[in-house]
Amino acid sequence: MEQALNKIKTTTLELVGSSKTLDELEAIRVRVLGRKGELTGILRSLGSLTPEERAIMGKRSNEIKREIESALDARKEELNSASIEGLLQKDWIDLTLDREPLFTAGARGYQHPISQIQYEIEDIFTSMGFQILDGPEAETDYYNFEALNIPAHHPARDMQDTFWTEDGNLLRTHTSAIQIRGMEKIDPPFRVVGPGRVFRYESTDASHENTFYQVEGMMVDKEISVSHLIFFMKELLREIFHRDVKIRLRPGYFPFVEPGFELDINCLICGGSGCSVCKQSGWVELLPCGLVHPNVLRYGNIDPEEWSGFAFGLGMNRLIMMRYGINDIRHFLSGDIRFLKQF
Ligand code: PHE
Repeated sequence: MEQALNKIKTTTLELVGSSKTLDELEAIRVRVLGRKGELTGILRSLGSLTPEERAIMGKRSNEIKREIESALDARKEELNSASIEGLLQKDWIDLTLDREPLFTAGARGYQHPISQIQYEIEDIFTSMGFQILDGPEAETDYYNFEALNIPAHHPARDMQDTFWTEDGNLLRTHTSAIQIRGMEKIDPPFRVVGPGRVFRYESTDASHENTFYQVEGMMVDKEISVSHLIFFMKELLREIFHRDVKIRLRPGYFPFVEPGFELDINCLICGGSGCSVCKQSGWVELLPCGLVHPNVLRYGNIDPEEWSGFAFGLGMNRLIMMRYGINDIRHFLSGDIRFLKQF
């Protein structure tokens, strides 16, 4: 019996020492100390011994039992803490750490590049006698379309996919609505610019956004012609790009101007030799413009026999993209501080 006890002890302690999981450990415990376990069997059989033998063997067996029990406990503890350590290593979060500061102490915020270019354009135009107007971003059909010579069912409405509100109003698709509001407020002669946010119901890609920024411009005076338009546009571009920029006019259709143009500038990224920004053409479409349509003047209570004017709609996003060589319009509204920090 003594031998059997010693064998149980040595093999069990060995197994416990080399066990890898809590399940394995439990299996060992059951095999040795469970109801039908090896050691339990020996303890039960003590009854058949003489009282002297029973005293010695009983004491011995209980010692071994306690030894095995404490080895099991110790190993259990080890395996437990190892598995917690494993967990901790996998999902380690140090809650006492400070998060990385977004701004270091004393750092200043940045003006969004759209705001920067807007203020710049406002400065350039006010220095040329223009006043700045504002208008609402949610507009009526009248200001956004009808008074701009785009009646209901006019096919030109399809040129600008529109976010309609349930009650038949809309998010303005262009700042041209400001032209009408301007004419209602100011008598000619006048020069106005109206910067603002506009919306199109479009899917987005590198050159399309559903929300972007324009500056509307309008000048009404006696005998305004295309040469006035070209003069002011060239002034604007020279101030913005700090150099003379080559331009060309192509016919363009907008119901509120006649004649209407697309003003292209020589691609500033490649200098006109062709690149991905100008789609290898050397030219970039930048400024739709034209002479104000007589109907639009009439909507503004201005007599087209007496007055004439030019109007333009400058895309601010496109302008900044040209100036800095930005290749994706979606950066502007991404809110990504790494993008904004560069300006
Ligand atoms: N409103 C036009 C657009 O957003 C641009 C434009 C403005 C064209 C003024 C001509 C004159 O597409």
